[in-house]
Amino acid sequence: MNENKKIIIDIKKLDKTYKGPPTVRVLNAINLSIYKNEIVSIMGESGSGKTTLLNIIGGIDDATNGSIDIRDKKIHKMKETELAIFRNTMIGYIFQFHNLLNEFTALENVMIPFLINKYDKKLAKEKSTYLLERVGIADRINHKIGELSGGEAQRVAIARALINEPEIILADEPTGNLDKKNAVLIQEILWTLTKERNATLIIVTHSHSIAEYANRTLRMESGNILQ
Ligand SMILES: Nc1ncnc2c1ncn2[C@@H]1O[C@H](COP(=O)(O)OP(=O)(O)OP(=O)(O)O)[C@@H](O)[C@H]1O
Ligand SMILES: [Mg+2]
Repeated sequence: MNENKKIIIDIKKLDKTYKGPPTVRVLNAINLSIYKNEIVSIMGESGSGKTTLLNIIGGIDDATNGSIDIRDKKIHKMKETELAIFRNTMIGYIFQFHNLLNEFTALENVMIPFLINKYDKKLAKEKSTYLLERVGIADRINHKIGELSGGEAQRVAIARALINEPEIILADEPTGNLDKKNAVLIQEILWTLTKERNATLIIVTHSHSIAEYANRTLRMESGNILQ
């Protein structure tokens, strides 16, 4: 990182508590700055709060206390409609279990977030087809998700996450349920596309080999970040 590094995600004193009983404090006054174009991996034991943190950054879940600014926008203060637009255009989210619509084709799944953003079917189809080619499944674009393998579905999920050219990509163990060969493939695709697009990537992983490729690795332990 050079001197001109610019903060894109700024998290201050972020808490997440589930009121019980028993009360569970999942995130413990987290302070964290993520820089533009950084690739950050997050590691940590099961239950340490990784998914919770990613969900709050992605605007899927909200914090109990604290602030989170993304490119100077205070997402913890956004109203639901503004947040929905923000999520759709600024954030590309890749879930551990792909979360695609099974009854729709690969192409349709990738097109949908674009159509929500700009209703241009022709452009949506062109861009989606291009991305599905880039992730290596050009021959499967008209298959329904239920007809694809886990690794193929995960590639569709990457294409879908990137369709609106988000500045931030959040990936929650995207290779967690794949064999080693496919895990490496998916990781390479994700890296290449992130860099090409000058995006910022936060990836939760249990894999040390994936973490090695990151600019920085954060470790989570019981709701705290050990830097
Ligand atoms: N609705 C809820 N009510 C109470 N506790 C919850 C709730 N949702 C999550 N938790 C707790 O929050 C903690 C953190 O969960 P989280 O999913 O963020 O962990 P994680 O680090 O992603 O784990 P994994 O590696 O298994 O995915 C866990 O102890 C979990 O039990
Ligand atoms: Mg998790």
